[in-house]
Amino acid sequence: MTGERSLPVSRVSDSRDAPPLRWGIMGPGWIAARFTESVQAHTRQVIAAIGSRSLDRSEVFAGKHGIAEAFGSYEELAASDVDIIYVATPHNFHYEAALMALDAGKHVLVEKPIGINREQAAGIASRAAGAGLFAAEAMWTFFLPKFDVIRQVLDAGMLGELTTVFAEYGEHFDRSHRIFDPALAGGPLLDLGTYPLALITSILGEPDRLMALGEPHESGVNAQLSAVMSFAGGRQAVMNTQLYNFTPTSATIVGTEASLTIDGPFNMPGGFTVRFPDGTRLAYEEPVGGHFEGLHFEAAAVARAIAEGQLEVPQRPLAESVRTMAVADAIRNQLGIVFPGESPSTRSR
Ligand SMILES: NC(=O)c1ccc[n+]([C@@H]2O[C@H](COP(=O)([O-])OP(=O)(O)OC[C@H]3O[C@@H](n4cnc5c(N)ncnc54)[C@H](OP(=O)(O)O)[C@@H]3O)[C@@H](O)[C@H]2O)c1
Repeated sequence: MTGERSLPVSRVSDSRDAPPLRWGIMGPGWIAARFTESVQAHTRQVIAAIGSRSLDRSEVFAGKHGIAEAFGSYEELAASDVDIIYVATPHNFHYEAALMALDAGKHVLVEKPIGINREQAAGIASRAAGAGLFAAEAMWTFFLPKFDVIRQVLDAGMLGELTTVFAEYGEHFDRSHRIFDPALAGGPLLDLGTYPLALITSILGEPDRLMALGEPHESGVNAQLSAVMSFAGGRQAVMNTQLYNFTPTSATIVGTEASLTIDGPFNMPGGFTVRFPDGTRLAYEEPVGGHFEGLHFEAAAVARAIAEGQLEVPQRPLAESVRTMAVADAIRNQLGIVFPGESPSTRSR
């Protein structure tokens, strides 16, 4: 590198430019409300219908967010005239909800994690491909403008040969949160750990070795886990996730020429810094924000992809979602964590 180092600019355009789709939402919960507010404020996408297991809950959500149609079952929503269904149910219902939508001829955007294991992720991918329908995991981080810049930095080789990725995510939850419920595939791995794992596996690929340590929570779910991984070429990754309290939610990508540290929480809108050994620092500035400021980017990217006839988005290809779940499976295999409806053989080895 010369002394004229600079960061590329983000190629993510205004979310209002994306051609509108008619969206239906399955599951009127916390993230469904955040998604609706962000999409309605920042895009021309139409949240046309909401589906709940209860017509009352569906009507309350529709009334609050100005949504035209409210259904009292997911089946009715799937059969309605929406273009795409955003699956926002708890993790262990993503698979059946996504298949229901695909089998009704609807494209799908499935909240993270796309399923509870590799087999479910691969099942959604193959059902969508077989039907010629769009599918993606709503890993919203990768659709943020900063991630487009990070991807360009990595692709340009600005960090040199990549050697290491550190990433972690911890948060505090009220004891009533579903993260403490074993019946809802609770524990931090699928809610929080999926972010560091998605980052690590999208940058370094699938590890050839992995060692995990985990500790149980009194509720019966896993309380925290850490994993170290090695990849081809001697590269390594370290991750932690836990449900006790907030952490910086930091992520650093190290290379032979420079390192890149994403401001925490790395999964949300914000900046990052590239640091070179000679003291040079290149800072990318992006307003710090939360779900309201960030979720619309994924909806806009999905709408653009579908308008162009694509069945996937480059920001989060289905193969990467499958790979993330394979690594989550490998961690769980070492820790003996089994989710509802799984037999030990369901998980990849
Ligand atoms: N992208 C992000 O930043 C982000 C943030 C939070 C959560 N998420 C993901 O979004 C998903 C939903 O999380 P959330 O926090 O929104 O959950 P939540 O508030 O509990 O809402 C989940 C919704 O799913 C429906 N549901 C269907 N079957 C259910 C069951 N057996 N038990 C409970 N609810 C059931 C419920 O609606 P009805 O019963 O009315 O149908 C409920 O409103 C999770 O997979 C999570 O990982 C993503």
